[in-house]
Amino acid sequence: MSRILLFQVFFISILLLLILFEFIIYKRWSKRIVQDKYKKIFSWVYWFIAISSKLGLILFLFSRNRFYIEIQGFLKPIYYFLLSWNYAFFFGFLFWIICFIFLYILYYIFSKINPSSEKQNSSSISRKAFLTTSAAIILDSTPFLAAGMNFSGMYLGSKDFVVFSKKIKIDGLPSAFSGFRIVQISDIHIGSLINEAYLKPTLEMILSLKPDIIVVTGDILDNSRLYLSTVGWYFRKLNEIAPVYAILGNHDHIDSPLFLIKTLQQTNSNILVNQYSEIKRGKYSLNIIGLDYPIKHFETKKTRSQFTEEYFESVYKNLIKKDQINIVMNHHPAEFEILKKKPIHLVLAGHTHGGQIMLSENRESSLSLASNFLKYYVDLYTENGVHLYVNRGLGHWFPLRINCPPEITLLELY
Ligand SMILES: [Fe+2]
Repeated sequence: MSRILLFQVFFISILLLLILFEFIIYKRWSKRIVQDKYKKIFSWVYWFIAISSKLGLILFLFSRNRFYIEIQGFLKPIYYFLLSWNYAFFFGFLFWIICFIFLYILYYIFSKINPSSEKQNSSSISRKAFLTTSAAIILDSTPFLAAGMNFSGMYLGSKDFVVFSKKIKIDGLPSAFSGFRIVQISDIHIGSLINEAYLKPTLEMILSLKPDIIVVTGDILDNSRLYLSTVGWYFRKLNEIAPVYAILGNHDHIDSPLFLIKTLQQTNSNILVNQYSEIKRGKYSLNIIGLDYPIKHFETKKTRSQFTEEYFESVYKNLIKKDQINIVMNHHPAEFEILKKKPIHLVLAGHTHGGQIMLSENRESSLSLASNFLKYYVDLYTENGVHLYVNRGLGHWFPLRINCPPEITLLELY
């Protein structure tokens, strides 16, 4: 079974789970909350929204963008609402599972501390009643709470860009490059949610950082070529500030990446698809290497890491000067496992968006969502003397961020 098929099966299973969850919520609301006289209208409105939002998802999954339409004017809030409905039920569903496990553990601990609760006495009934009622409140309210958060997020939010600055020590850095300023942005996701108005404030912020170069580590576009004019506008503006070096991410490969590459080239950006560029200062130079996102791994038995290793080797063997500072842009940070064993000094990545929800300041904590799934997902890592910086992303494809703001990175080499 190809990975694309596997992905589709997985996606459909999630879809079915969402529909099941929608059905449970519907049943509970129509039984307990909605008055009899409004039940019919509630039922029509609820299922109209539920079905149209799922149709949107199915079209997205199977049309490979053939049915992508540019959403404008009064359709925009409707689109945002349907999108937020899906996100809400998805996150509501996850949240509900977590709450259920938590309540179950709580109940287990209570019954261990006080074994009498095993018996049907009055206190155990009230404890049980408490747990059941809390579970019911959580179940009934989460999708709607999540919908509210998502909906407001689409209008208000996730727009408070933050500059994260780091000084990076590079052994053997030529003095000509001491203090070299790299501004990194990543995962812009230009599309229906990320437009010119969203991006405009970032230009002034980047300008104020006085970068020597700007690097963009993939997911420039959110799936569709319809938004290439915004890409053209943004990258022309970036190039007015400093030379731009960019790579492609997984989302850039969903629609044909050739259109994106052409648009980027027209803005004078250096789009590096398994290529490199030499940055010169006097008689010294450093290599900036751009690796493509190995989208082919979905269709073959080879892993993403194997592709990345091959891509790196193919560029490395063509380097004119191999023994100088090598900076690699690679969209997915997980490939640091391989890249840290190569003659590389600094790897720049994105993709994870920092998990978007970090309930703890500690990135190792399981309250920082992505730490449960990913080894490298945010900020700076140094292993084998090689640095990896993972940017939190400038945009998003779902608009909920908690304690993980959209990021502009300033890396100063010394
Ligand atoms: Fe990505």
